[in-house]
Order: sequence, then C-alpha cells, then structure tokens
Amino acid sequence: MIRPRRNRKSPAVRALVRETTLSVSDFIYPLFVHDKELDEPIDSMPGCTRWSVNGLVKEAGEAYSLGIQAVVLFPAIAESIKTPDAKECANDDGLVPRTIRALKEAYPELCVITDVALDPYNSDGHDGIVRKNGEALEILNDKTVETLCQQALCHAKAGADMVSPSDMMDGRVEAIRETLDLNDYDQVSIMAYTAKYASAFYGPFRGALESEPKSGDKKTYQMDPANSREAIRETLLDEEEGADIIMVKPAGPYLDIISEVRNTTTLPVAAYQVSGEYLMIKAACKDGWLDEKAIILESLTGIKRAGAGIILTYFAKQAAQWLAE
Ligand code: PBG
Repeated sequence: MIRPRRNRKSPAVRALVRETTLSVSDFIYPLFVHDKELDEPIDSMPGCTRWSVNGLVKEAGEAYSLGIQAVVLFPAIAESIKTPDAKECANDDGLVPRTIRALKEAYPELCVITDVALDPYNSDGHDGIVRKNGEALEILNDKTVETLCQQALCHAKAGADMVSPSDMMDGRVEAIRETLDLNDYDQVSIMAYTAKYASAFYGPFRGALESEPKSGDKKTYQMDPANSREAIRETLLDEEEGADIIMVKPAGPYLDIISEVRNTTTLPVAAYQVSGEYLMIKAACKDGWLDEKAIILESLTGIKRAGAGIILTYFAKQAAQWLAE
C-alpha cells in the first residue's frame, strides 16, 4: 500500500521533506515615518507606529539585529505641504531623504528601499497628477512619470539602495531606470509593484498616512481584482523595462497571481502582505479567536509556497523573533 503518511511521521521526517521554509532574509519590513518628535500609534493598524526619524532608526536597528536586512519607507506628510503637483516628493531635504540618510549613517549595510508614488504628497490623494474635467478625474500618466523620475532620483541621491514604484503608471519602470542610469545611479535597484490590484485591503494603510483619495478611486491605474492574464502582461513589460524585482500586491488573496508570475519570469518575485491582511489577522487574534503565532507563520508560509521569495510584511519583526526561537 502507498502510505503518504510515512513522510509525516515525525518532526525530523517532516523537516526533511518540507518544501518551503520561511527565513528572516525573506522579509522586507515596511515602516511609517512622520515629521514629528514623537512616535505615534496608528489607530487603523494596531501594533504599528508612525515613527519619528529617530524612532524609525531605532526600530530598524532592532529589526536588523533580528536579521531583517531590508526596510521600505512610507512617509506621512503634513496636509499643509501637499500640492496638486506633489512637488515635495523630490525635495532633497524632505522627510524621506532625511530618513534615508539617518538610516544609512546608523546601519550602512541595511538595504533601504523607498516607495515611489505621489499619493503621500498629492493634495488630491492620488498616486498620479490629477486633471479635473468637472466631476471627472483624469490621472495624467506621462506627467506623473516625469515627477516619479525626480522622486526616484532624489531618493537615490540620499542613499537609497532600491526604489519601489507603487503608482502603476505605464512606462515608469523604463523611465526611472533611464533617469537613474543617466545620473550615475546604475546600482540603485528597482522593485516594481508590477501587479498591484485596486484592492479594498489597502484601507488601513491609507488611514495610517491620511492618503485616501479626495475623490474618485484608483481603478484607472491599479488592476482589476478579477484579472490574472493582465498580471502576466504587466510582468513581461516590467521585465523588459528593467525591473530587478517583480511584486504582486496584495498577497494572501492573490496567491494564484503570485504563482503565475513566478512561472512567467526569471526575476525574483516579491509579494506584499498589505495592511488589510495585517488587520484581519490582528483582529481575529485579539481576543484569542485564532492563534496569532500559528496564523501569522502559516499566512507567510502560504505566500512563500505560492512563489514569493520576498515578502513585505508588517509582521516581519515578530516573525523574525519566532523564527529565531
Ligand atoms: C500607495 C500605496 C498603497 C500601499 C502601498 N503604497 C496604498 C494605495 O495604493 O492606495 C498599500 C500598502 C498596504 O495597504 O499595506 N502608493
């Protein structure tokens, strides 16, 4: 008789036949920063913090000592600095460049990744520059890409190791690559949000940054959750445009996309376990309804098993602690 259970009979045998292993080096830790002295808990994401620059450096240091080698920065920008052209995004003395410099000074080996998109800086709350025709909004693709290039260059100048365009404008990976290369930043990598869906799972994140669109939605640039062939199309394009890493976002509800993208490209594949996924797990575990440690590690293992070798997760630090036990 064929007995598959023999391969499950003991911890040692299970460890031998295990196909997927989570490792602390898989994680990218997303961190929020604001231009205030105090660290502030984020109401919409219990357990997460909007850090001061100093607080963020300390948190990144703790993560680094647990083996987390990469962080990605998300700024909360004061409403008074936001403009329709989002020009603060390329200010060399802005919050993000200052944070990059502080991080690189404290932890030169840490891989510092930045988000490239206009929504934190744009008074319209969109990832691109908005043209209004009465009630109708148009998100201007090529004009936005020009600004994204300036933003990416500003991050590179401040010392970012990697820039990560999350805006979903067409042609931005190629344009950013060209801008970086022309300015002698050919070693700055691009992690592209390749298949980023117009997802309701981003709600708590927008609460964290107060970056909710003032009107309209993001469906003319982010992908329709119903589509998977389109993710292949975006993957082939980003590969051709020079992306170093391809990302799928969200992660948990899009495991099929991760798997298809994994089978399409030879590039490394990342997946972003987003704020709504984080919040659902936090909420379900708050009163002990689910076992937090088991659920978090299982959700991350599932994302890795689907094909993501890199996982952006708000649980990075906690998971790193558990993996070290
Ligand atoms: C915006 C951006 C978003 C996230 C990362 N970058 C939100 C959005 O597209 O509206 C979401 C991350 C999360 O929900 O954890 N450029």
